[in-house]
Amino acid sequence: MKMIKNMVMLAALTMTAPLAAETTDTANAAPATTVAEIAAGVCAGCHSADGNSVIPMNPILAGQHAEYITKQLIDFKATESAPAKRNSPIMSSMVAALSPEDMKQLGDYYAQQKTTPSQVTVDDDKLIELGKLLYHGGSLANGVPACASCHGPNGSGIPPRYPAIAGQHAEYTLTQLNLFSAGDRANDKNVMQQVITRLNGYEKRAVSAYISTMR
Ligand code: HEC
Ligand code: HEC
Repeated sequence: MKMIKNMVMLAALTMTAPLAAETTDTANAAPATTVAEIAAGVCAGCHSADGNSVIPMNPILAGQHAEYITKQLIDFKATESAPAKRNSPIMSSMVAALSPEDMKQLGDYYAQQKTTPSQVTVDDDKLIELGKLLYHGGSLANGVPACASCHGPNGSGIPPRYPAIAGQHAEYTLTQLNLFSAGDRANDKNVMQQVITRLNGYEKRAVSAYISTMR
């Protein structure tokens, strides 16, 4: 029900946009307001208005690099000639009515918000300690590179290609690691798949838990 309501709002927002543009003379007719409206009206239910999702299965978007967010929005969208590059039934319906310009501006919008890291605590010091070792040192025995080499020692990533992951909800991160290793998420030319398949389930949980504690 909620989702249908959101979709109607999204449709309404995108339909009023061209009308608003026609009634003003200048091209710079407050596009930022429109994007903030989309964020508040459509995305907020799952990601919070400022992108600091408090629901652990929905990613925190606040402070993420603009280019990465825009890329994901593009990847979620199926076109007439190709299926979505990143498969998520929820997000594919969310982006269906977004224009490339909306996607770019949504990237800028969330990148400008201040990150509130995950407040969900993982009460397992041993797990977090192992995650820390894997994050910074990888696993020589299994040929797994250190996460830090692409996502940075403090998890802030390297734009435009490598996303920030510090403070992300462990539940969301673990889901993504499982999707990458199963090949169900491959919108990065399988870079993450090669990194992650040699980690076992416990190690994936460990590194996800550690990442959620990074600040
Ligand atoms: C009904 C809940 C819901 C709504 C509403 C929603 N999202 Fe999402 N979003 C999700 C979920 C769940 C995921 C994780 C998808 C996956 O597992 O790959 C996600 C993932 C994303 C990602 C990828 C983040 C990353 O770190 O890779 C972006 C970007 C995003 N959403 C932006 C938006 C925007 C912009 C809107 C509004 C137009 C929106 N979402 C509306 C649930 C939602
Ligand atoms: C060789 C570089 C590289 C290494 C090493 C690497 N990653 Fe990544 N990672 C990437 C790229 C590139 C993406 C972005 C994929 C995209 O564009 O959708 C990514 C995406 C991710 C995401 C998805 C973020 C999101 O918001 O959805 C997670 C989680 C992640 N990496 C975790 C890890 C972990 C944990 C490790 C260490 C075990 C690791 N990465 C090591 C390159 C790397």
